[in-house]
Amino acid sequence: MARIQIEGLGRRFGTTVAVDAVDLTVEDGEFVALLGPSGCGKTTLLRMLAGLIPPSTGRISLDGKDITAATPSDRDVAMVFQSYALYPHLTVARNLAYPLRCKGMRRTEITARVTAVAERLELVPYLNRRPKELSGGQRQRVALGRAMVREPAAFLMDEPLSNLDAKLRAATRTELAALHRDLGATFVYVTHDQVEAMTMASRIVVMNGGRVEQVGTPAEVYDAPASVFVATFLGAPPMNVVPATVTSDEAGVRADGDGVAAHLWPGRTPEHEVLLGIRPEHLVRAADDAALRLDAVVEAVENLGSEEVAQCRVGGAPVAMRGPRPLRLAPGDRVALTCALADLHLFDATTRRRLRWADEPADRAVAVG
Ligand SMILES: Nc1ncnc2c1ncn2[C@@H]1O[C@H](COP(=O)(O)OP(=O)(O)O)[C@@H](O)[C@H]1O
Ligand SMILES: [Mg+2]
Repeated sequence: MARIQIEGLGRRFGTTVAVDAVDLTVEDGEFVALLGPSGCGKTTLLRMLAGLIPPSTGRISLDGKDITAATPSDRDVAMVFQSYALYPHLTVARNLAYPLRCKGMRRTEITARVTAVAERLELVPYLNRRPKELSGGQRQRVALGRAMVREPAAFLMDEPLSNLDAKLRAATRTELAALHRDLGATFVYVTHDQVEAMTMASRIVVMNGGRVEQVGTPAEVYDAPASVFVATFLGAPPMNVVPATVTSDEAGVRADGDGVAAHLWPGRTPEHEVLLGIRPEHLVRAADDAALRLDAVVEAVENLGSEEVAQCRVGGAPVAMRGPRPLRLAPGDRVALTCALADLHLFDATTRRRLRWADEPADRAVAVG
């Protein structure tokens, strides 16, 4: 069992606020990814969970027990480091056995656990090698194995795949997801790679500047991003963001901007500055009577193999359109683009937070303020 509760957790280094008052509950058996750009506090948060650094504020509990001040060995958690942190002078077998020897476990029990883990991770042929005689992927598995022998209730992983090449990373993602299912343990997994978070995690915690921007399933954070930051951190290319002013006239609520004109929905609204968010894959060529219209100028077209991305400009804003190849667009083309209203996201231009619409989707009135 490992239910991790974090309340008001913060950590400063001098004047740098690395982690700022984070509240988060990780349920037993969950695979939670901490996702965010470099420097947003992911490693610091994980190290506090592992007990490697003390928090400046807040508390951590494991299954209801306060472990804020507990030493790493007194927590039923194991950490897998980005650097692997293997002992270079020890064989694979001894690296795997190390945490158990430290605990003073009986030799027969150590052998049994090391053998079981080596078999599960296909490390048996390498047990007598030293880390420098292994490939990157094998080293990564030894680091994982060294966490597994302890049979912890929770695994804390800090970018464990970042040193692998792209093909091995993809294969290892699948293996890690399978391992999580087999072990039934709680995983807290730090990554700056949106693909890792989207493919493996049951929930994603998107972090920015030491704070939590949004917590949700992969579908929730992708389909309903809580902020412009989340919207533009996820997706390749990321969500397009175009400034506009929302007003209303006799026909209802509308949005207008440089190269943007949209009849949104019936009703009235006070004037409001917004950012329209549209994913590149939701943009299509507009018919003449389209309710939403972006007047785009194509600047470049990228061939992704099965798809193409047209990099355009709408007024001053860069806008990417992604679709099946060929898009039949060329640099210099002027093209009207649109999307379904259900695929249009609205953010407050000042707070950059998602605007919630009352009575969505039938009556899409902006709930402003
Ligand atoms: N030991 C430290 N001393 C001083 N500053 C640190 C230390 N560890 C991290 N930081 C700072 O805290 C912030 C968050 O760092 P970190 O948790 O490593 O981010 P991430 O893992 O998301 O890249 C960064 O600004 C980083 O420079
Ligand atoms: Mg880090």
